Amino acid sequence: MDNTLIELMNVSKTYSTAAGDFTALKNINLKVNAGEFVGIVGKSGAGKSTLLNMINGVDQLTSGVVIVHDGGEKISVHEMSEDGRALWRGRKMGVVYQSFQLLPMLTLIENITLPLDFSDNFKPRESKARAMQLLELVELEGHANKLPAFISGGQQQRVAIARALANDPSILVADEPTGSLDSITADHIFDVFEQLVSNQGKTIIMVTHDSSLAGRFSRNLRITDGELADEDDSAESKVDKTMRRRKK
Ligand SMILES: Nc1ncnc2c1ncn2[C@@H]1O[C@H](COP(=O)(O)OP(=O)(O)O)[C@@H](O)[C@H]1O
Ligand SMILES: [Mg+2]
Repeated sequence: MDNTLIELMNVSKTYSTAAGDFTALKNINLKVNAGEFVGIVGKSGAGKSTLLNMINGVDQLTSGVVIVHDGGEKISVHEMSEDGRALWRGRKMGVVYQSFQLLPMLTLIENITLPLDFSDNFKPRESKARAMQLLELVELEGHANKLPAFISGGQQQRVAIARALANDPSILVADEPTGSLDSITADHIFDVFEQLVSNQGKTIIMVTHDSSLAGRFSRNLRITDGELADEDDSAESKVDKTMRRRKK
C-alpha cells in the first residue's frame, strides 16, 4: 500500500537580497511516509528552517512541487496563496519552534485553547476539556493555570507541543525543538515525540544541528548547503558522493 504523506519534487528556494540572489534549497526531492519520525541534521545556515517552511507553507517556494496527502485528497501546498496556506497550516499541521513561542500573558491552558478557538474543528465548550487532555498527555495538567514564565524551559516546550497538537494534525514539524534545552530535558521531549509516533500514529519531521541526536529518529537525512542526502544510504554511495564532490 502506498503510504506517502508528504512529497517534495525538485523544490528550490532562492532568496532575493540586496547583495543578490541566494539559493538556500537546491532541487530537493523527499518522500515521507505516514508514521515516520524523520530527522534532518545540518549545520547552521544549511537550509533546515527554509526546508520546513516549504513543507508547512510558512514561505513560498521558488520552483518545484509540495504535495501533502490528507485522507484521499492531495493538497498542492505550492499552489496555495499565503492566506490559504496559513489557514491550512492552522488546521492540519502542528509546528514547534526552538523558542517555544508561548504567549506570556496567557496561562498554559489558554495558550492551548487559542488555536482551537481560531478553527472550527472543536466546539467552544469542548475546547477547554480538549486542552486539559493535551496537558495531561505532556504531564503538565497540574500547571494548567500558571503563566509560562513560572515553568521551566522543558515544560514550556511540552506545552508548545500540546498546543501544536490542539487541532489534531497528523503531521508535526519541529525546528530545533531541543536547541535551547539541556540534554536530559531534550531527552524528555524526544520521549514525547516517540510516543506521539508510536501511540498516536503522528508523522514528525524534525530538524536539528545536533548530529548526536541522529540515532533516535526512524529515518535520518542530512542537509548541506541546501542539498538533501539520505544518511541511511550505503557507506559505498557516501564514498562515491565524497569523490564526486572532490572532483568538482
Ligand atoms: N529571508 C531570507 N533572506 C535571505 N536569506 C535568507 C533568508 N532566510 C534564510 N536565508 C539564508 O538561507 C540560508 C539557509 O537559512 P536557514 O534555512 O535559516 O538555515 P538553518 O535553519 O539550517 O540554520 C542561510 O544562508 C540564510 O542566511
Ligand atoms: Mg534554522
